[in-house]
Amino acid sequence: MKAFAGKAAVITGAASGFGREFARIGAQLGMKLALADIQADALAATVDELRAQGALAFGEAVDVSRAADVERLAQRTLDAYGAVHLLFNNAGVAAGGLIWEQTLKDWEWVLGVNLWGVVHGVRTFVPIMLAQGDECHVVNTASVAGLLSPQMMGVYNVSKHGVVTLTETLYQDLRVTGARIGVSLLCPAFVPTGIAQSHRHRPASLRDESAPTASMIAAQKASEKAVSSGRISAGEVAQMTFDAIRENRFYVITHPKILASVELRLHDVIAQRNPTDPFSLEPRVAPRPD
Ligand SMILES: NC(=O)c1ccc[n+]([C@@H]2O[C@H](COP(=O)([O-])OP(=O)(O)OC[C@H]3O[C@@H](n4cnc5c(N)ncnc54)[C@H](O)[C@@H]3O)[C@@H](O)[C@H]2O)c1
Repeated sequence: MKAFAGKAAVITGAASGFGREFARIGAQLGMKLALADIQADALAATVDELRAQGALAFGEAVDVSRAADVERLAQRTLDAYGAVHLLFNNAGVAAGGLIWEQTLKDWEWVLGVNLWGVVHGVRTFVPIMLAQGDECHVVNTASVAGLLSPQMMGVYNVSKHGVVTLTETLYQDLRVTGARIGVSLLCPAFVPTGIAQSHRHRPASLRDESAPTASMIAAQKASEKAVSSGRISAGEVAQMTFDAIRENRFYVITHPKILASVELRLHDVIAQRNPTDPFSLEPRVAPRPD
């Protein structure tokens, strides 16, 4: 997809972090914006900011883990703009700790947003794009946690590995059907955004009564430290993503140094060696259980 002006973009998780930066770039490019997030107040602030710059934008309070919410977002976008050309399945949350200590609600929450959110986005919007027949593009936000299996990030790793294979399969399925829909898979490492404070918008029904375990506290601290010390900004990640859309490039690897760990993992598989610690090349950011 090379031309953006006048085209419609749908962005989930648009109230903060990468999503807000995608929206800012989309606005600069003259796109019509459909912005979705579970945080209605922060979303309204983003919409106000972009409208003040002359952009055409609306915000829809959406929980991407609910199919009906995503379908309502699609209908509103079609009612407002008549089409959808660019979709960012980007909303995401994180929880950490030793994998057997993660609660049922941790699994439901993280898989609900990170994986089911992308499932709902693809099932709802790709048929709309296919019916339009014009050039479109889908961007799914995974993570390097979708290419590696770092310790004490199990729920998140599972969700993001799911997004990686879903997106690679989407690419193959679109290719065999000859569709004019490009696909990109965004896999960032740690970048300063609100992700380490995901609990701020965790629905009450998916919060645990019990106190967090020591491993959950250690994982939270490690995540806050790693995310806040990230050296690439959310704006730079968004720019790299738009560059990939323009070039019809699938993998968007924002921190190429991490590929050494990915290579190590794949060599472990090929050599049938036991898994190497993915943090062995970057021990600074590794959470440790007490
Ligand atoms: N920041 C990083 O270090 C990093 C690294 C790799 C991948 N990611 C991924 O990037 C994506 C964007 O996260 P971010 O880093 O910008 O964090 P962020 O917290 O700043 O933004 C995420 C947005 O998603 C929204 N959201 C959460 N649950 C939702 C739901 N159920 N429905 C709709 N919206 C919901 C939040 O309200 C928030 O505005 C996520 O998928 C995240 O997993 C982030």
